[in-house]
Amino acid sequence: MLKGDNVNLRMMEKNDIPLTHQWHNNLEVSGLYNGVHQYTQTKAEQHFTEAESDPQNTRHSFLIELKDGTKVGSIGAWKDRSGYYTMGASILPEFRRQGYCSEATMLMIDYLFLSDIIERVQALANVDNVGSRKTLQKAGLKEEGVLRKFAFVYGKWCDFVMLSILREEWNHPRVLKLPKN
Ligand SMILES: CC(C)(COP(=O)(O)OP(=O)(O)OC[C@H]1O[C@@H](n2cnc3c(N)ncnc32)[C@H](O)[C@@H]1OP(=O)(O)O)[C@@H](O)C(=O)NCCC(=O)NCCS
Repeated sequence: MLKGDNVNLRMMEKNDIPLTHQWHNNLEVSGLYNGVHQYTQTKAEQHFTEAESDPQNTRHSFLIELKDGTKVGSIGAWKDRSGYYTMGASILPEFRRQGYCSEATMLMIDYLFLSDIIERVQALANVDNVGSRKTLQKAGLKEEGVLRKFAFVYGKWCDFVMLSILREEWNHPRVLKLPKN
């Protein structure tokens, strides 16, 4: 469990899939992130099992929980062959605008830089996704440029902004609570 001030990140388990799968297929929850794509729970379980048994798997998937255990969303990061991580997150509509995603994003960044020798963590936001861009900036990522017609979302090709944070900019854990000596 990764503990922050207001939220914790708990690694996703197989028995979380019915819930997260429901969230993924709900357009209100995924917003401008996943678009209209739907998939079956069977497929989600298959992906999970394959990833768990793959020694090369680099995906880290967490549930975002409040201190009382309320599940408010999910966050994930996966490593590219070039050695950087890309992350994405979503928060249930009723829990938005309370700082949960920016804190979860900072926790994830702390975790990735503390657990792996990587130099870069990045994220992509639909140019129209003001909430995502602001959240990522609040967590310390910088906008680098626009990828034109990068993804097909809700029936049209959309531009996406690339954001990143480098190890030298991160510098030290900002939210993750570490054990005291
Ligand atoms: C984008 C999303 C994850 C933000 O989660 P959140 O928990 O509401 O974000 P936070 O509360 O940490 O907000 C961080 C900042 O962004 C601002 N913000 C959040 N949503 C916003 C919106 N829709 N419009 C304008 N500003 C917004 C907040 O006001 C806050 O800024 P402030 O501290 O200056 O007030 C959430 O809206 C969501 O799940 N959207 C659908 C999925 C998605 O788009 N994921 C992003 C993929 S990278």
